[in-house]
This record gives sequence, C-alpha cells and structure tokens, in this order.
Amino acid sequence: MMSGSTLLSFVLLALSTVVRADYFSSDPLANKVVPYNAIPYQVMTDTDDNRGFQTGYNICNSTTENQDSMCQTMFVNHIDDFCLWAPPTANSTIADSEGIEVAWCSKKGHGTRIIPDGAITSLQLVKTPSYIQIAGTLNQNYLNIGGTDGGELDSGGQDGEGNPMGGLVYTNNFKAANGNNGTYIQAQHWSFFIGDGAFCGKICDQTGSNPQGLCNNIYDRLGCEYNAPSDVQANTFESCLGDDMTPVGTYVGSDGKTSTYFQPAESVTIDYDALPYTPTPAPTSSCTPFASAAIFTDGVGVTVAAGNGVGAGAAPTGSAPGVSGASVGTSAGPGATGKTSANGSVKPTGSQSGSGASPSASGKSGAVAVGVSAGAMAVSFLAVLAL
Ligand SMILES: *[C@@H]1O[C@H](CO)[C@@H](O)[C@H](O)[C@H]1NC(C)=O
Ligand SMILES: *[C@@H]1O[C@H](CO)[C@@H](O)[C@H](O)[C@H]1NC(C)=O
Ligand SMILES: *[C@@H]1O[C@H](CO)[C@@H](O)[C@H](O)[C@H]1NC(C)=O
Repeated sequence: MMSGSTLLSFVLLALSTVVRADYFSSDPLANKVVPYNAIPYQVMTDTDDNRGFQTGYNICNSTTENQDSMCQTMFVNHIDDFCLWAPPTANSTIADSEGIEVAWCSKKGHGTRIIPDGAITSLQLVKTPSYIQIAGTLNQNYLNIGGTDGGELDSGGQDGEGNPMGGLVYTNNFKAANGNNGTYIQAQHWSFFIGDGAFCGKICDQTGSNPQGLCNNIYDRLGCEYNAPSDVQANTFESCLGDDMTPVGTYVGSDGKTSTYFQPAESVTIDYDALPYTPTPAPTSSCTPFASAAIFTDGVGVTVAAGNGVGAGAAPTGSAPGVSGASVGTSAGPGATGKTSANGSVKPTGSQSGSGASPSASGKSGAVAVGVSAGAMAVSFLAVLAL
C-alpha cells in the first residue's frame, strides 16, 4: 500500500521579502577546517557582519548539557545518535531563528539539549559513500518550533557564516573514522530542512564525491523532496545503506542528458507544477528497523519547554501528546495553505492535495497518515531567509 509513497515529498516555498545581506564573509564557515580536538569556543570570527555574531558556542561539555544549552556543535552519527538544529526559545519559527539555532541531540554526551522522547515520529538514516542523510517527521513543538513555515539550515547562509551562524557538524560514521565511535570527522558542507512537522538533512564527506554539490545550499525553496529525497515511512525508524543521489538540482531528462535546474531569484515565482523534474530517492539497501524506544532512551522524561503548547494544561489529555496537541493549533496543514494563497506565488505540487486537503483537526500526524494512505503527500511550507 505504501510502496512508492514519499512521506516527505513536501515543497519549500519562499516569500519575496527575503532580505539578502550585502555582507559576505571573507572566511566562510564551509571553508573552515576544524578538527574535533581543536574546536574553538566560537568558530565564527567575523566581527563586522551586520547580521550579528554567533549567539552560542562550539565547546560543549557536561556543564552545557541541559535544556537551556546554547551548544552549536552537532552530530549525525548513527540512527540512535544524531542531532537536529532547532530554536533556543519556545514557539519560534525557523525563519525568525535560523541564525541562532542550537543543537538538539538524541543522545547524552554531546553537551547539548536532548530531543524529548515522542518528538520524532518517523526516521530514516541512510549512509551513502559520500554523505549521511536523515529524514523523518516530528512533533516540532517539542523542539521549540512554532508556526507552519519551515526553513533551511546550512553551512552556507546568506553571508557565509552558516545558519545557525557558527554551527559545526561532526560524525563518527564517515570512512575516515574507521568505525571508531570515538573518532569525529567534521562535515564542512551540510544542509537541513525542518518545519511543518518534518525534517531532513545531509552531511557530506569531504573525501566523498562532490560534497558541495551533494549538500548544496542554493535550493532552499525546494525542501526535502529535492534536497534530500527519501522514502521515510510513517511510524517507522530504520537505518539503511544507500547510493549517492545525483547532486541537488541535477537530473537526467527524457533525452538522456543530464541537466541542472537552478532555483530562480527570490523575487521570481516558482511554478512547482512546472519544475523540470521530480526527484526519485536513490536506492537504499540493508535497511534495519528499530523501535523508537530503543533510540530515544535519553529523551525519556525530558520535558518540553513551556510556551510550546505541550504538557499540563496545554495539550488535551488522554491522547498521545503532540499528536493531537499543539500541532493542531500551530502547524496544521491549512496554515501552510493559507500562507500559500497569501503569498500568491505558491504552486502546489501534484501531490499537495494530500496536505492541502487534510483537515486542520487532524493535525500534523493526521496529515501524515492521510498522505501516506493516499500514496503521496506534500506539505508546503515557507522557507524564509534560508539560503
Ligand atoms: C565547557 O563548555 C563551556 C562552554 O563552551 C566552556 O565555557 C567551559 O570552559 C567548558 N569546560 C571545560 C572544562 O572545558
Ligand atoms: C557505535 O555506536 C553505535 C550506536 O550509536 C553502535 O550501534 C555501534 O555498535 C558502535 N560501534 C562500535 C564499534 O562500538
Ligand atoms: C506561538 O506563537 C504564536 C504567534 O505568536 C501564537 O499565536 C501562539 O499562540 C503561540 N503558541 C503557544 C502554544 O503559545
């Protein structure tokens, strides 16, 4: 029933109000080589950027491991040991907080905030020769994310400082670590999308094929479907091997030739029905299923911050928190639809009826269920300031 469905086939959209910084770093984050044993307190060095300065820190330890942590060093290691970028304060949109996101990790030991149990509702990790990809769905209010709009977080950023500014990413699962979990390798190129109840991300190995192209950061309006194609299945947690995708934006046309699509300038409307290609997730193999309880052990008992609409007095009792809780009010499908029409520039994909049609009362998880049972779904959300 679910074969062929793409749970995360959502589209990112951008407002035309994006302000492009005229400042660009002469020492961009993606060019910085930072060995794990030489991480500075703050990796950002430019003090003259009119967007501001790094708000957190990169040296993270047991003192900084709490739910107020401002750690901006994160990891994508294994299915039970990964992090996401999310806001430091409750009920923030990604657009408003992209420069100041902090690390939220599934496991203790990284000096970060811990992802509360119940936050992640499906997850697929795929390790390919050139990158590690994660994708899934979440109760985003567990991670301080409000609103219906998502966004891109990446090692580029509008000024080269990254989003978050000064964010560092490591893994013990690139080839150079030789299977040693204590050996951490920096990913210089990475991109994540999060919002509207879903997330995805890729961290690229500098020794793999085309790290910049596979983790490109110039397709911020195209979302997970184009940037990190996956076949995440609802309520499923799995770790797979896989082939490399083609670099983001490239595709083989009906003439057999490889072409590259470039996202137009922010001021130009994208006709999502008329994009030259629809990505197909690269083949995966050796998928191993996990129980979520085996993954999020460290998140058990971790409370969701007040102000997110989760917890006593906020979510309806007697039902799974988050499933029917604040996601209904803060991030249900019609919000995205509303933004869509307000913006006037948004064209749904062929499958967007999965999201647009789902009633707000069903909330995020309902929308996912509807989308999956329909065989396809798309969740539209806005990516603002994401490049
Ligand atoms: C722990 O991390 C904090 C924040 O980066 C830093 O100020 C402190 O010096 C670190 N402590 C140790 C023992 O490294
Ligand atoms: C590395 O950590 C993962 C869990 O995150 C574990 O499954 C794996 O066995 C560990 N590898 C080694 C060599 O200990
Ligand atoms: C989150 O913020 C929005 C916009 O400010 C507000 O309307 C909503 O009530 C807030 N949600 C919660 C749970 O406080």
